[in-house]
Amino acid sequence: MGAVQLDRGSWPCEPNPLRRPGFGLHGLLNVPPRTDTLCLAGPVEDIDLTDLDRFARGFPHADFDRLREHEPVWWHPPTAHTPDGEGFWVLSRYADIVAVAGDSRTYSSETGGERRGGGTLIEDLPVDWAVGVLLNMMDDPRHADVRRLLMPSVAPRTLKLIEDDLRQRAATIVDAALDKGDCDFLIDLAAELPLQAVAQLLGVPQEDRHQLFGWANVALDYDDRDLGEATARTQAAVAETRAYGARLFAAKTADPAEDLMSLAAHATIDGRPLTDMEKAMLFSLLIAAGSETTRNSIAVGMLALIERPELWRSLHEDRSALDGAVEEMLRWASSTSYNRRTATRDTTLGDRRIRAGDKVTLWWTSANRDASVFPDPHRFDIGRRPNPHLAFGRGGHFCLGSNLARMEMRVLFDTLLDRVGTAELTAPVEYTRSNKHTGVRHMPVRLTPR
Ligand code: HEM
Repeated sequence: MGAVQLDRGSWPCEPNPLRRPGFGLHGLLNVPPRTDTLCLAGPVEDIDLTDLDRFARGFPHADFDRLREHEPVWWHPPTAHTPDGEGFWVLSRYADIVAVAGDSRTYSSETGGERRGGGTLIEDLPVDWAVGVLLNMMDDPRHADVRRLLMPSVAPRTLKLIEDDLRQRAATIVDAALDKGDCDFLIDLAAELPLQAVAQLLGVPQEDRHQLFGWANVALDYDDRDLGEATARTQAAVAETRAYGARLFAAKTADPAEDLMSLAAHATIDGRPLTDMEKAMLFSLLIAAGSETTRNSIAVGMLALIERPELWRSLHEDRSALDGAVEEMLRWASSTSYNRRTATRDTTLGDRRIRAGDKVTLWWTSANRDASVFPDPHRFDIGRRPNPHLAFGRGGHFCLGSNLARMEMRVLFDTLLDRVGTAELTAPVEYTRSNKHTGVRHMPVRLTPR
């Protein structure tokens, strides 16, 4: 006790000096100043979810254990790292997150109140560039219309058609890694299949995939910057991806094929095609979402098995347990840590007053360790039933690629279990420095054939 915490909830408080008109940690405050409050600290006083160095050591589960117990609807005060110089709400319990994700009228993926920017990151992104243009940062009805167009391309029946191709690709990838013996599990194995699959799905020539992978890595990782900051390198990577997407759309418009980009190039909603900006952003979203998250779930899932060789052996013997193991890996890895919403009206959550325009973050990773839903939540248990994890989110924005991600994981682990006898770490795992994507940058392993 004794430290100060800035709080906007129910505690008896004094005016918060950090919220004086015109004061913003980055000078970017774009919401009207409001009377916030200064409180004595509670049991979560030292938690800073904007300090990316904390995430570079692995996801801070212990912080979220305390939040779920003591401050399930917590006002995260502004810190030296906080984008836009303002605080945000942190939801850590399963039930609250499900409720908010299911109420898109009150909690928008675009914006709310008098806020000018918005979106699903803690930092505000500009309206008409990302917000209202990217599928995941759109509200209904436009969101539902665009989503409906894409659904058939990622439905289980459609994906079944590419399963054999994925199996062949997986075999080639695993054999190449086994030939090396010592390899980087993240680069050589976990990243390759999702990347090849998303290239196939979108109609990207396979020879371009590593270039796109490189741009996505630069754009999504926070290795040389803080939240809300863009460097010349990240700006260039974003611009290159968008330019590539525009060229691909032009090619697919002129010469369509059986792929998702051709479908989007020719699709219409109410008789009108998607805008050029929507198309370019859809491409960037799918390349990033399709490659980054799945590879992290694969790598973190493999790490769990490397640490538990008895599970590796039992899965090898009994492949009927693989589906359950994949679900547990998804829960365990929770590779998308959080998504944000913006309150569109004044409301309450628990005993906290949420105001129109407030940023509200839903921490899927924390929901997935909530003991009220998952008994013994910090135990990796491939026999967990039921396993209603939120790794793919919940509600109208539920992950569009969930069927593909599940199939990639099943196919790759099936192939690994067939061909790899032992796997051991040869150096410490290097985690991504991000509070948005929980994952691995490098995972040096030694593989021996079965
Ligand atoms: C293990 C892998 C994956 C995880 C953990 C994951 C996680 C998520 C989560 C949590 C959301 C919800 C976002 C929100 O509510 O704001 C989401 C949405 C989305 N995901 Fe995934 N994802 C994965 C794989 C994929 C793949 C392979 C693709 C594409 C091929 C994909 C494409 C999308 C898209 C387009 C959305 C936005 C859907 C919408 O707004 O309607 N994801 N994903």
